[in-house]
Amino acid sequence: TGMFTLDPGFTSTASCESQITYIDGDEGTLLYRGYPIDQLADNSSFLEVCYLLLHGELPTETELKDYTTTITHHTMLHTQFDRFFEGYRRDAHPMAVMVGTVGALSAFYHDSTDIDDPMQRMIATHRLIAKMPTIAARAHKYSVGQPFVSPRNDLSYSENFLRMCFAVPAEDYEVNPVLARAMDKIFILHADHEQNASTSTVRLAGSSGANPFACIAAGIACLWGPSHGGANEAALNMLREIGSVDKIPEYVKRAKDKSDPFRLMGFGHRVYKNYDPRAKVMQKTCHEVLDELDKRDEPLLQVAMELERIALEDEYFVEKKLYPNIDFYSGITLNALGFPTEMYTVLFALARTVGWIAQWEEMTTDPTQRIGRPRQIYTGAAQRDYVPLDKR
Ligand code: CMC
Repeated sequence: TGMFTLDPGFTSTASCESQITYIDGDEGTLLYRGYPIDQLADNSSFLEVCYLLLHGELPTETELKDYTTTITHHTMLHTQFDRFFEGYRRDAHPMAVMVGTVGALSAFYHDSTDIDDPMQRMIATHRLIAKMPTIAARAHKYSVGQPFVSPRNDLSYSENFLRMCFAVPAEDYEVNPVLARAMDKIFILHADHEQNASTSTVRLAGSSGANPFACIAAGIACLWGPSHGGANEAALNMLREIGSVDKIPEYVKRAKDKSDPFRLMGFGHRVYKNYDPRAKVMQKTCHEVLDELDKRDEPLLQVAMELERIALEDEYFVEKKLYPNIDFYSGITLNALGFPTEMYTVLFALARTVGWIAQWEEMTTDPTQRIGRPRQIYTGAAQRDYVPLDKR
């Protein structure tokens, strides 16, 4: 059965050629279209990064203005969409709501089934980037039992999103610019990460020519798991469970114990064997948010910082090159911004949508693209004859 190379988890198989995102895991480098992630987080806006990922170049002032107008033009949801939300139980996990509702967009936009038409593909892309915040905010409002807040197109992408999440009727809602900027940075940090599990899922789903909204729903499903996007939720729950600095050694000991399935959530990465460059920016953003909100003494932050310090000195973590990843500090930041834990992975999905759809577009226009069809090494029974029921 030696015809195929067995590569579980695809640790040594490149599934495509791509010009979008570059990662050097040993150096801790992450570039979007050549630009370092920290420079983009510090100087750019999320919509500018969307444009960059999709078009390959930073937009000019006019291009950015036009692009922003186009995106804001698509932020509303069809009124029929209300029914989808009402069909869910209020206690549904918002990621379950996202998988269903984003998939349902395919039923609203049948024109997007013509994926050979570049114009239709572009409109689908705009719709996705524009509608994800509206859908995500709505999932949040639905779970907390508050009325849905309509998008406001005079606000920036992140300001509008925060307002849709946190404004309540009959109360003024002023978006705090420092927090909106932090939100924008978080979106930038999550925008793309080359061929991770969910992106590969979107590409594989798309390789059959499926509707783009359905492909993105497949990506959301994959992202949900705790080894991937669900880690931000799991990391915060873990920090809460640890609760105080004196409990840390006990949890570090458990993480090293191979008979205990417990892992330090927010630690380790398949590709980064050096500090995750996104984690560096995220840690800084976390401090900015806590400073702005006067929450410098946040006990979760104390636990996180001490846990990081202890783990980075521990032989086990050093030897295995386990460093904090993006999810280690994002939970504390999102918690301070006011998001319930269940929403963390939703925010990741919102931001990653641009990466997914940029990769989907790249694949769709790649002349070498074929349907993704991995083979296997068969280890089951050899051919044998059917045994009638009374002879078994
Ligand atoms: N705590 C304790 N031990 C760990 C951890 C951890 N967080 N991560 C890896 N290890 C150990 C693991 O037990 C294994 O040890 P051994 O070689 O003795 O069997 C070794 O390190 C290599 O781990 P692996 O599971 O083979 O590595 P992988 O590349 O398959 O998995 C990972 C990468 C991110 C799934 C894993 O590090 C992990 O489960 N981390 C915790 C979850 C997490 O934070 N995920 C977010 C990743 S970044 C954002 C995203 O992708 O969405």
